[in-house]
Amino acid sequence: MLSNEQIKSNQKEIISLLRSTQREGIENVIKYLFKSNFFIIDSSKDRHHNWHGGLAQHCLGVYKIAQKHSEGLPQDSVIIAAILHDICKAGMLVFNPNGKPGSRKVHIPGHGNRSIKLLEKVCHFKLTDDERRAIRWHMRGMHHTSDYAQHDLDLAHQSRLWKIVHDADHKDAAIWGKR
Ligand SMILES: [Fe+2]
Ligand SMILES: [Fe+2]
Repeated sequence: MLSNEQIKSNQKEIISLLRSTQREGIENVIKYLFKSNFFIIDSSKDRHHNWHGGLAQHCLGVYKIAQKHSEGLPQDSVIIAAILHDICKAGMLVFNPNGKPGSRKVHIPGHGNRSIKLLEKVCHFKLTDDERRAIRWHMRGMHHTSDYAQHDLDLAHQSRLWKIVHDADHKDAAIWGKR
């Protein structure tokens, strides 16, 4: 469980990182984060970071781990891909009157894809190809996918940005999931 101060401080840090990218449309994304309860929602109903503020805490945690391995990569891409990789989860959890998140299933295949759709079609934010693949495939290791997507997944696996986000996502979930 996070204190209100910790939730506020994570929110401040995430907004300042996103603004530091100076990317066009980033304010739309920040507005969406507020609208979708991104900063206060749990990361999931019964998996890792399942407490208030858990989603933002996880996304910031993934960024901090990924950043350590990001030498030579464009830092705006590291911020965008790491902090926004699970953005679609915010809108998929709802608070019940008792303060616990609702029962909508959030850990289903394809949430990486939904996150990029949300950024591009709802927030009108332009992702680079590398960022799009890092977010889309952040859950996918070296196994096969449907034919139409295999090429894109292969390209993701050649990308350092994909690798650091994928690895950091696993690491952060494992550190906190055990608490
Ligand atoms: Fe995810
Ligand atoms: Fe994640």
